[in-house]
Amino acid sequence: MARTAVVSGGGTGIGLAVAEHLAAAGDDVILTGRREDVLAAAADKIGKQASYVAADLETVEGAAAVLQHASEHAGRIDVIAAAAGGNTAAKAPADLEGLQRTSWAWTANLRLNVMTAVHLVEGLKPILNDDGRILLFSSIAAYRGSGTGSYGASKAALHPYAIDLSAELGARGITANVIAPGYIEDTEFFGTAMTEQRRTMLIGQTDNKRPGNPGDIAALAAWLASPAAGHVTAQIIQSNGGALAGR
Ligand SMILES: NC(=O)c1ccc[n+]([C@@H]2O[C@H](COP(=O)([O-])OP(=O)(O)OC[C@H]3O[C@@H](n4cnc5c(N)ncnc54)[C@H](OP(=O)(O)O)[C@@H]3O)[C@@H](O)[C@H]2O)c1
Repeated sequence: MARTAVVSGGGTGIGLAVAEHLAAAGDDVILTGRREDVLAAAADKIGKQASYVAADLETVEGAAAVLQHASEHAGRIDVIAAAAGGNTAAKAPADLEGLQRTSWAWTANLRLNVMTAVHLVEGLKPILNDDGRILLFSSIAAYRGSGTGSYGASKAALHPYAIDLSAELGARGITANVIAPGYIEDTEFFGTAMTEQRRTMLIGQTDNKRPGNPGDIAALAAWLASPAAGHVTAQIIQSNGGALAGR
């Protein structure tokens, strides 16, 4: 029987790849993110199994909009993939300096990476079926930092959240896991900030000498979301080509 998956960040990059992978396996997918035109294009690409709802998941109102859409379109859901996120640290307003700037960056990253996931998961919990699957998206930065402090810290906050979700919902057959990717290309994550020098350095840190791609993460997410993965829960699973080993 077809399941229904809600994928935040589903209009681009990793979230879109997860949605495409799940839809290709027969699931219905609900895409969410802030930009309606991006979501519409993504849903169009996936086909009739996809619907979308534009929502800012940093807000409770955004989570309520996703709940309403999912309730109306599917009634109940089976998979929550909370891929919305990013690193806002470099986007602080130019007029902020010193501690004001630091405070802005930390608050923004906590809102973008922690609260979008918390709002999505907690908002949808009332309609999540038994044997459901919750996927959160962390980063290699949660283990080794990324130079800003706030991004890695905000991702690390998701690890105990998944462990507590697993404890809370495990008796119903629901699993909660975290995927922590390394460097993944073909996303909007880095915007225009990636240089050839940094790319070479990041690829050089891997054992397989290649960047990750959204399909790598989607394949892992799809397996974690599958019935076969029912005994894997409360885990943080890395996909980084061995980069954390630090070469
Ligand atoms: N790419 C990498 O190398 C990498 C590495 C480690 C971890 N990650 C993590 O992987 C996840 C997916 O990122 P990505 O690489 O696929 O980058 P991406 O293409 O920039 O995807 C981020 C998505 O989040 C959505 N989003 C941002 N703010 C939102 C909000 N307030 N409410 C709802 N949706 C929001 C964006 O859509 P809108 O702008 O339309 O809202 C976008 O679709 C993120 O959590 C990221 O931190 C990425």
